[in-house]
Amino acid sequence: MRIETKAIHVGEEPDLRAGSYGDVSRPIHLSSTFATLDIDKPTGGYDYSRSGNPTRDALEKKLAAIENAKFGLAFSSGLAAESLVCLSLLKPGDNIVAFNDLYGGTRRLFDKILTGDLSVGIRYMDARKPENVIGLIDNRTKLVYLESPTNPLLKLADIAAISEIAHRSNVPVAVDNTFASPYFQNPLDLGSDIVIHSTTKYINGHSDSIGGAVMVNSQELYDRFKFEQNAIGSMLSPFDSYLVMRGIRTLGVRMRQHAENAMKIAEYLESRKWVKKVFYPGLPSHPQHDLAKRQMRGFGGMISFEMDADRIQVEKFLKNLRIFSLAESLGGVESLIELPSRMTHKGVPPEERQSLGISDSLIRVSVGIENVDDLIEDIENAFSRGTF
Ligand SMILES: Cc1ncc(COP(=O)(O)O)c(C=O)c1O
Repeated sequence: MRIETKAIHVGEEPDLRAGSYGDVSRPIHLSSTFATLDIDKPTGGYDYSRSGNPTRDALEKKLAAIENAKFGLAFSSGLAAESLVCLSLLKPGDNIVAFNDLYGGTRRLFDKILTGDLSVGIRYMDARKPENVIGLIDNRTKLVYLESPTNPLLKLADIAAISEIAHRSNVPVAVDNTFASPYFQNPLDLGSDIVIHSTTKYINGHSDSIGGAVMVNSQELYDRFKFEQNAIGSMLSPFDSYLVMRGIRTLGVRMRQHAENAMKIAEYLESRKWVKKVFYPGLPSHPQHDLAKRQMRGFGGMISFEMDADRIQVEKFLKNLRIFSLAESLGGVESLIELPSRMTHKGVPPEERQSLGISDSLIRVSVGIENVDDLIEDIENAFSRGTF
């Protein structure tokens, strides 16, 4: 089955046995606990919804299917998913080798909680060059952690090459695949061991649920993560599980439209004089365009661009937009825009932001699936209403 078909059917096969209703859409099982006839074995297969819930189970099957994984787990947020993986694999004194360009919240988790509170070392490197990983792995390295494309600069890591290097030392590789979505990239197929998503973004796709996911092929990793998720209690609610399942059904059509609109907007931005630089893996000008073509099936809906403007002009431009909302987050059907240096990435120290390339005039766009001509007109009007 291809991804569009799996996204609709897996986990939601109608139950046509006597006494069932044949729902084509999985119902929401809100019950927190389940009655049983047998003391030692729950009659209906479930005992308590933190440990297992029919709606969440259906979602987890679908999540695994769309990432070509054997197992999926649904969490209360993307950060809950990341935290679980890290807490499960690392103890004080261990270290993570990580891409230095990561979502700001991941940096906060790594720098403040893992390093600050739990004495886990984080060895940041520029993962655009796979060989940078080599010298950093030692016998206390328990995880290589990547995002590709990264947030906000759309840098890529060669997932196959880095996985091959990490596996020489038996270190597992986790990839945050939120930006690409499973529709355009499947890190497990490229050789990684763990895929992480903020389902808040493209997977749910409608900006009305916070959630996270972990997908793996290894039974051992799954059993460990499942046990610890129950022990810690960071699972997704039945209602949100229903919403995310509903969102996944349209993942294919949404992603195709996000990518088509993003390509047109990226090309338009490249042609404007107010724009110094556009970052989009689908543009031939992207320094890793060849790698993008190799490891992704499409280039996604996220663009960043650097304006040739001062702080006041950047603010004016953002406030002049009518269709794009000034907001954090991404991956919903509606277009959003934000200023990473003062919004999503304000927690990254200013010197580090500068060295990574997150300047004060870098703008990040989550291109929605509205009519692209309306979106381009909105940007053009906002530029011309400014002082450009
Ligand atoms: C790439 C990436 N990973 C993880 C997260 C964290 O996800 P959540 O906000 O669902 O905790 C985000 C949030 O913006 C993100 O952009």
